[in-house]
Amino acid sequence: MDKIILAIESSCDETSIAILKNDELVANVISTQIAIHQKYGGVMPEIASRLHIENIGVVLKEALETAKITMEEVSAIAVTSGPGLIGALHVGLQCAKTLALMYNKPLIPVHHLAGHIYANEFVSPLKFPCLAIVVSGGNTELVVMDKHLSFNIIGGTIDDAIGEAFDKVARVVGLPYPGGVSIDRLSKEGKPTYVLPRPKDDKTYDYSYSGIKTAVINLVNNLKQKGQEVNVPNLACSFQKTAVDLLLDKALPAVEEFNIKQIVLAGGVSANSYLREQIVERTKNKDVEVVIPPLWCTTDNAAMISKVASYLYDEKVFADLSLSANPNWKLKDYKNF
Ligand code: KG4
Repeated sequence: MDKIILAIESSCDETSIAILKNDELVANVISTQIAIHQKYGGVMPEIASRLHIENIGVVLKEALETAKITMEEVSAIAVTSGPGLIGALHVGLQCAKTLALMYNKPLIPVHHLAGHIYANEFVSPLKFPCLAIVVSGGNTELVVMDKHLSFNIIGGTIDDAIGEAFDKVARVVGLPYPGGVSIDRLSKEGKPTYVLPRPKDDKTYDYSYSGIKTAVINLVNNLKQKGQEVNVPNLACSFQKTAVDLLLDKALPAVEEFNIKQIVLAGGVSANSYLREQIVERTKNKDVEVVIPPLWCTTDNAAMISKVASYLYDEKVFADLSLSANPNWKLKDYKNF
């Protein structure tokens, strides 16, 4: 019998439904709200929820039509049930629960960050021990996996996520949302002339990105007070280099410590061109495979959710209809939903 997973993702500002048939992606429809949130300089949670409600039916219809699959043929319904914006998550969850009830299908709760890690399987199968560098707007975590669906968090941010720092720095110098994209683009025109601090520059796997962000804000305010111009491309380049260098300087010693065979990048910040270039450069003399997700996998999508769900389906990790959204769900607790 065919294994057909229908997966739903609505944790932030993308409404997406994917269909995975026998581990082949046959549909991945994404409706992004980015242009609407751009006007506000960030995601407006209430607007995000309302737009998910407007879009989800259309996205579902298009996914089924693209895959040429009927709901009756689907084996299971997977849904991102956390972490994310609570209202946004609930829209996907209600859709999933309704479909599971109507068509009598198992319901699979999927952790959003597990999805970002498994997005790499569209490039290469995960190989263990694997180090996942998870970098997004809400998370910065180093995860060691010894086997499928086993997530050992060896470190992470103690304050801001790296993507949050990119977004806040961008805002302070007047660059549009999403800030990471703007900083990445502008950095190419700049040089790393500003000296910024490297908080928590120690031998742990933990990070602190709020210190770098605050240093940039103070620097911009001081220059303004003195009536001096900020060289925005140079500042963008300095910030990006400091943030990414710190990320890799602290993450890469894990390769030796945990005998890592493969490194995967995951999350929105994995689109960063300097990070992509540096991770390849810094590992070229190490006996480790580096997997970089394609750009379409770095933004939120249901295809990555369907990949994790396929493994969860094999393990029969199913939820009942009392499943609720868990905006603070931790990856290490992924089987407690
Ligand atoms: O994974 P994601 O789509 O959302 C969360 O679940 O948080 O990540 C969004 C984050 C934002 O902070 C955005 O500024 C950042 O990813 N981002 C980037 C780039 N593209 C997106 N950061 C640095 N460089 C980029 N090219």
